[in-house]
Amino acid sequence: MKIARFSQLGFILAAAGSAVGLGNIWKFPYVAGEYGGGAFVLIYLITVIAIGFSVMIAEMLIGYMGRLDSVGSFEKLAPLHKKSWKYAGFMGFTGLLILSFYSVVIGWIFHYIAVSITTLPSTVSEAEQAFTQLLSSDVKTQFFYHTLAFIVITGIVLKGIKGGIEKINYILMPMLVLILGGMFLYASSLDAFSEAVSFMFNPDFSKITSEAIITAVGHAFFTLSLGMASILTYSASLPKQINLSKTSLIIVGLDTGIAIIAGLMLFTFLFEYGAEPSKGPGLVFISLPAVFYEMGSLGNVFAVLFFIGLAFAGLTSAISLLEPMVQYQIDRFDFSRMKSAFIAGGFFYLLGLVALLANINEYSELLTFGSKNVFDWIDFITASILLPLGGLLMSIFVGFIVPKTQLQAALKSSMSEFGFTLWYFSLRFIVPPALIVVMLNLMSIIGVELIMPMFGVAYLISAVVWLGSI
Ligand code: PHE
Repeated sequence: MKIARFSQLGFILAAAGSAVGLGNIWKFPYVAGEYGGGAFVLIYLITVIAIGFSVMIAEMLIGYMGRLDSVGSFEKLAPLHKKSWKYAGFMGFTGLLILSFYSVVIGWIFHYIAVSITTLPSTVSEAEQAFTQLLSSDVKTQFFYHTLAFIVITGIVLKGIKGGIEKINYILMPMLVLILGGMFLYASSLDAFSEAVSFMFNPDFSKITSEAIITAVGHAFFTLSLGMASILTYSASLPKQINLSKTSLIIVGLDTGIAIIAGLMLFTFLFEYGAEPSKGPGLVFISLPAVFYEMGSLGNVFAVLFFIGLAFAGLTSAISLLEPMVQYQIDRFDFSRMKSAFIAGGFFYLLGLVALLANINEYSELLTFGSKNVFDWIDFITASILLPLGGLLMSIFVGFIVPKTQLQAALKSSMSEFGFTLWYFSLRFIVPPALIVVMLNLMSIIGVELIMPMFGVAYLISAVVWLGSI
């Protein structure tokens, strides 16, 4: 099988493009807002550095050393245990689950580009009404834009690593940085900027609850694109000569930097115009459009640019959510890229329709199970369970299954001996227990009865995979 190679810069842009997404600009500010700002930001930063970094290198290594699709790379690196460990490679499927609702949200963003060009809502309550109306009763608009998102995402992946993924990231990533950078500069000149800084960086330790910790850990995986083979699949196309630890540092740095810039900018705008920071998922769709309206004509320009930037960020992540399964089917079943992209794309598209309908009043009862509807369940199961579980499996795999000498050889030009010892130690003895503790804590919070069976299965799978490899 032949996989085209990224250039070094191409890889960094593509991996950063994957990491920087709706998670940074849409999700991070509202979750931080919900959990009280500074305290949440602090745990998130600690997790990103303590866990994200080690797992990022581990995930990159699996692709870099395996040089195959996710399942093939696991098999190749553990020839003695390939029967069990190959199942870990199927974590790429998580991407299609995420993509189902991710594509619906990209659809909302497309719609808001149109709204910004035509008429912005003039008050927060008007904006809230418009957003609620879109979500709970406007099937047509959502269907149209979800379909458009599906066409764009699948269309880019169809063109492959070089002609599609690398190329689009070369164009969209610099534009995103320009748009956000420009708006951030403007925000930093406003009076409310200092209020935003203290909101984000003054931790109120009483707000650190176990729920905040779980959310922060889940979000760290989500925002770094870890635990579902996106980074792994891209890394199979890495150029041979590359410093893995430096590259991962750049990706983690860009991702975190952009989340913080986006958060500061958003909160400055919200505080400047007296809007609420805790509006939940509707933050950028409700409070922000009303704030842009208040700004007058500059606000109109900002609104269009902001939603275009958000769409760019979303699209470069979306393609990385689709690529692992597409590459897997090409490698395994010898499918053409076209066939593979349409099968994987068709799956997320259809599931996305179900997720979309779950928010619509008429269907919501049918599509609600327990405390959440299908849309929220997919978001919750993927970010809080499947991604950390994927990260756990990858750390165990690299930490205990792949021979140490092979890792040392692959990382020779990336790390000093001391660095290697530290990273290896953390990957084996810090990351897995930390993840297990956090994931177990989850149970006491959302009800043992509900989560136990799910976790039981998830843990059984990992136990089987793990035991099978001893
Ligand atoms: N990192 C992306 C974001 O922040 C989402 C994503 C998750 C992409 C997992 C790929 C894999 O929006």
